[in-house]
Amino acid sequence: MGTAATATGGTDETGTPENKHRTPSPNSGYVHGYSDHEARRLTDQAETLAALLHAGTAYPAGSRVLEAGCGVGAQTVHLAASSPGAHITAIDISAASLARARARLAARPHAATVHWQQADLTDLPYPDASFDHLFVCFVLEHLPDPAQALAGLRRVLRPGGSITVIEGDHGSAFFHPDSAHARAAIGHQVRLQAAAGGNALLGREVQPLLTAAGYADVTVRPRTVYADATRPGLTDGFTHDTFIAMIASVRDDALAAGLTTETDWDRGIGDLRRTAQEGGTFHYTFFKGTAVKPVG
Ligand SMILES: C[S@@+](CC[C@H](N)C(=O)[O-])C[C@H]1O[C@@H](n2cnc3c(N)ncnc32)[C@H](O)[C@@H]1O
Repeated sequence: MGTAATATGGTDETGTPENKHRTPSPNSGYVHGYSDHEARRLTDQAETLAALLHAGTAYPAGSRVLEAGCGVGAQTVHLAASSPGAHITAIDISAASLARARARLAARPHAATVHWQQADLTDLPYPDASFDHLFVCFVLEHLPDPAQALAGLRRVLRPGGSITVIEGDHGSAFFHPDSAHARAAIGHQVRLQAAAGGNALLGREVQPLLTAAGYADVTVRPRTVYADATRPGLTDGFTHDTFIAMIASVRDDALAAGLTTETDWDRGIGDLRRTAQEGGTFHYTFFKGTAVKPVG
């Protein structure tokens, strides 16, 4: 179903005249930026963690699903694969990311229909109750007011419909060999994300945020990644290519902000890399929340 349409990536409203939202300039208000490197990191992250994060998420044929903050489509490919027959609307504020997402989906045959739209999830251009399900992954952590965003998302969800939220929490990162320099480098990333209006420690807040935004039946479960030398797919795909790559990417910003010195920074990243080598271990926890919009 919908294969022909989706083989070309579905419909695309990026850059249409009705679109009043602009793509932010690189790194403005979004700590990870929109570089090729970041697009690759998001893809590595999604591919490595797909089984862990998407387990239990599948939408019935014909259901209307909104993926808010789809980025380069790294999660969209998994949504489309596990929900053949669903009608997915994938939105992002970045037109460049949407273009990458569209190309990615076009290259991966699937049986869901995907409709792309450039939109601000804090100002959604949809009538009330337009969707049966919402999926929001690694997005709330970048918003200055995630509670307000969740309330706005609730408006476009039909009563009885579901929301799924997935967020990380850098406070859950611990590793061997331990290193004060490595912990400091992670702390600098947390500080920079906060300065950009986000919160890299948001995972622990998913349950209270969903509850305060008026959702019911809120359930949050930890999804833990543990990597050591016996699990090379995780040490490479998660510890090295996802987590350390994300911390390493803020080097220039951390130095420019005067948070660290080149020597200390390089020592911290070097120590983090040791955790992905023989004898090293790394732990991180994601938080996956599901909830429904109350009926009546
Ligand atoms: C870390 S990326 C996650 C992308 C994707 N969900 C994933 O897991 O790979 C965060 C995305 O949120 C988008 N974003 C940030 N603020 C937004 C907003 N107000 N409206 C829509 N998208 C937004 C960014 O452009 C970026 O693509």
